[in-house]
Amino acid sequence: VRLADDRVVVMREPDVDRVLKDPARFRSRGRVDTGNVRPRIPVDIDPPDHARYRRILDPLLAPKAIAPVAGGARELAGELIDRFAGAGGCDFAVDFAVPWPSQVFLRVMGLPASDLPELLRLKDVAIHAGGGDAADEQRRVVGQEIYAYFDRHLDQAGGGLIVQVREAELDGRRLTHEELLDVFYLFVLAGLDTVTASLECFIAFLADHPAHRRRIVEEPGIIPAAVEELLRWETPVEVVPRVLGIETALHGERLAPETWVHAHLGSANTDARAFERPYDVDFDRPANPHYAFGKGIHRCLGSHLARLELRIAMEEFHRRVPEYRLDETAELTWRPGIRSVEHLPLVFG
Ligand code: HEM
Repeated sequence: VRLADDRVVVMREPDVDRVLKDPARFRSRGRVDTGNVRPRIPVDIDPPDHARYRRILDPLLAPKAIAPVAGGARELAGELIDRFAGAGGCDFAVDFAVPWPSQVFLRVMGLPASDLPELLRLKDVAIHAGGGDAADEQRRVVGQEIYAYFDRHLDQAGGGLIVQVREAELDGRRLTHEELLDVFYLFVLAGLDTVTASLECFIAFLADHPAHRRRIVEEPGIIPAAVEELLRWETPVEVVPRVLGIETALHGERLAPETWVHAHLGSANTDARAFERPYDVDFDRPANPHYAFGKGIHRCLGSHLARLELRIAMEEFHRRVPEYRLDETAELTWRPGIRSVEHLPLVFG
């Protein structure tokens, strides 16, 4: 699909796959504006430098490295849910989907929980300010605040990812101060928004699909598969952008260098070329090679942490609140891009 401003959106699964797996042609450098003034590491970095950064970052977010987070995260989830489980309902977004993953993420980073309101404000503007000159200006200001925040905290942090990345060696040297800022700029956006958005998508779906919800309650062993299927179905990060490095033919159309090419992950995830009965939400799919975390070299660095969090949240919430539905008097307003809602009012029982 060619948009009015000449950007191209790639919808079919084989094309999305091609775009994601050919980073020399479909480049990441110079793309979305989240108020940053330098490329964010590693998402805006192309080969060959990209692999060097991933080599030091991957082990820090590998399943083994993040496993110790699980116990505390589960405990915190229980505490938060217990506060509203006995009431007639909750605002799932405000009461859980925002505070829980972000507090877990701050612990992983080694940042104080008291900084959460400030960081949430910064990432909300950076990601959700919208289009137009006023939004650009807001993002620019907030971008400077994000750099300033990490400027202050880089040396103060006493543990967690901040210290691990600070002390990691890249080809025999530590990352520079600017490189560290560029890593954490991305981490704060990626870590504070995506799991929140995914939980909102999941619970909104399950509130409206009682048979799927009951299956999760009665058969918690299905939760890991349900998380994958809901990631496929909901695709909270809908689209990832690239910029063409060289002239390229796509379905007979010649696209000039510098053309923006958006890979539509949600569309690939519901393409019958790749998924049988793509519109059925089926927790028993034998395989689920979905695109919700992207593919290729930029595949989500935080996917193990995201999965761990999503599984824990689904287990702890459904154990305490087995019956719930959407409050019929409320209208959900979804924000695009990273699909999320500000309010998700649920009625229990
Ligand atoms: C369910 C939650 C999440 C979803 C759906 C998600 C989705 C994605 C997607 C689609 C990409 C690919 C971007 C591209 O190709 O341009 C990506 C990359 C990335 N994600 Fe996630 N993400 C999630 C959670 C997280 C978390 C919790 C972190 C925290 C550390 C994180 C950190 C990153 C980073 C650093 C990259 C860039 C990787 C690279 O460019 O090599 N993500 N994510």
